[in-house]
Amino acid sequence: MTQDQLKQLVGEAARDEVLKLPAGQILGVGTGSTVNYFIDAIAPHKSHFAGTVSSSNASTERLLKHGFTVLDPNDVVQLPVYVDGADEIDPQGNMIKGGGGALTREKIIASMANQFLCICDSSKQVPVLGHFPLPIEVMPMACAIVTREMEKLGGKVALRLQKSVRADLNQTPSQAFVTDNGGWILEVTGLSITDPAALEAQINQIAGVLTVGIFAKEKADVLLVSNATGIKRIVL
Ligand code: A5P
Repeated sequence: MTQDQLKQLVGEAARDEVLKLPAGQILGVGTGSTVNYFIDAIAPHKSHFAGTVSSSNASTERLLKHGFTVLDPNDVVQLPVYVDGADEIDPQGNMIKGGGGALTREKIIASMANQFLCICDSSKQVPVLGHFPLPIEVMPMACAIVTREMEKLGGKVALRLQKSVRADLNQTPSQAFVTDNGGWILEVTGLSITDPAALEAQINQIAGVLTVGIFAKEKADVLLVSNATGIKRIVL
């Protein structure tokens, strides 16, 4: 099976899981290629849900195209479940997220939900977080100071660039990838994330950081993971 087929498989498994919710609930929807399969899979069942809250402009666009109602998170009180992918997930359910740049809104909506349902293929499961470059969304004016602070923590820092920019060109601010919130993304490698909750709290203290892509406080509660033999459901 290709990785795309594994993503589709787990997207469809998540559809079956959320359809067990009583009708009339609001659904939290994440961002990324795995979630895109989930959105497409639940589209024929949209009348089961009172509406959705979305973690990115890209997911909002896809949900609207399918005819879902997309609500302002400020108008939502009860969110039973948030469904999203991950770039890495450890055995405790701590994750690195933000490969798609939507980490800030993802963390906000995850914090609103009773349950974080993580969906991924088995390539995202790791014993310890940190091989995937850790995304940190920053205020553009704080790019240099946050870079220096992360270097003090032992990280090697690179500014995420727009996809169209070739890696061998010099980085300039105008080539920075810009998030839905107008932020920039720093990608940090070389960190040993043995205590995700502590590192998340520490990076949150740096002025200018909007969101760090460690999801330990908002870790996954349930993991649906696909591999060549099918789907595994793990309660974390
Ligand atoms: C988006 O910002 C990310 O947090 C995604 O949830 C994560 O990158 C997983 O994406 P894929 O499903 O595309 O691998």
